[in-house]
Amino acid sequence: MGFAVTFISGDGIGAEVIPAAQQVLEALRLPVDIQHAEAGFATFEQRGSALPDDTLRLCENSSAVLFGATQSPMAKVAGYNSPILQLRRHFDLYANLRPARRGDIDMLIVRENTEGLYSHREHVSEDGRTAIAERVITEKASRRIVQTACEMAMKRRRKLTIVHKANVLKETCGLFREAAFDVVNQFPDLTVDEMLVDSCAMRLVMTPEGFDVLVTTNLFGDILSDLAAGLTGGLGLAPSANVGTGVPVFEPVHGSAPDIAGHGIADPRATILSLGLLLNHLGFVEQATRITEAAYHTEHTGNTAQTTQAIIRALG
Ligand code: NAI
Ligand code: MG
Repeated sequence: MGFAVTFISGDGIGAEVIPAAQQVLEALRLPVDIQHAEAGFATFEQRGSALPDDTLRLCENSSAVLFGATQSPMAKVAGYNSPILQLRRHFDLYANLRPARRGDIDMLIVRENTEGLYSHREHVSEDGRTAIAERVITEKASRRIVQTACEMAMKRRRKLTIVHKANVLKETCGLFREAAFDVVNQFPDLTVDEMLVDSCAMRLVMTPEGFDVLVTTNLFGDILSDLAAGLTGGLGLAPSANVGTGVPVFEPVHGSAPDIAGHGIADPRATILSLGLLLNHLGFVEQATRITEAAYHTEHTGNTAQTTQAIIRALG
């Protein structure tokens, strides 16, 4: 059976790294049909929507989406909504998966993507001198993110670290922690430990090779996954997956890099690694492994086309 996959370049270097990933995919000759769709700030300027309906329909009719990057305006622009945030919401992609690998380091951070401190529940007091953000933690979202993390860990080295701050955030992190320990009971083959987020940050820097899968709430996961990316080669090597209820979306962590766009020098490896995550998700495990190994073992020479060709040669 064939698969349809939607490729969205977006803005800036998205238009360079997505075609690079397409070349890699085509070199593998898999039964995957690529369809292209538009989204991003340039699309918004041309068509009045950053994620037009025809793009959304194509995504809905695919098995997965590979997304380049979009440029978000610095100031608020009326009518503009980030297409990646829209896709995450539309498909209820509640888990953000961020692998980080280099040398002995091989970890996966599983970040809750829908609630926590990023629930958009902020308010300011009448005198404007106090600002409050509400941190929403639900049992349902906590259980499903930990379930995803456990399933991922079972396919890896079977080690899971639950990261929280329940000693201070007794109610919110308390609820997350309780739900997490309840879910891990269904996975007796996992080795599970827990860590306070501040201590986890230090251990990530000092002994990163000790980690396999980490699972945590939205803000903590945002920060720790960038820390992990920094430890393992930076933005050029940081892929991600958004998975959950609907069509999964795979994307490099980096943005549209307007400072280098159009020069043919963008590092395509983060996007090619994201393609690896996509193929793994579709069940092409052997090919995904080949892509991943090739990308991690190829240096970026500073030329997108050369790096892409080197990765294709390394596929064997
Ligand atoms: P950025 O990730 O685009 O760039 C940060 C720095 O890293 C720049 O110096 C850039 O040249 C470099 N860089 C990034 N990716 C690279 C690659 N593949 N190869 C070589 N160098 C690379 O972040 P920045 O500059 O903060 O944001 C630029 C635009 O991208 C903004 O409009 C921002 O809103 C958007 N953005 C979009 C994201 C997304 O689509 N998921 C994520 C982050 C930012
Ligand atoms: Mg971030």
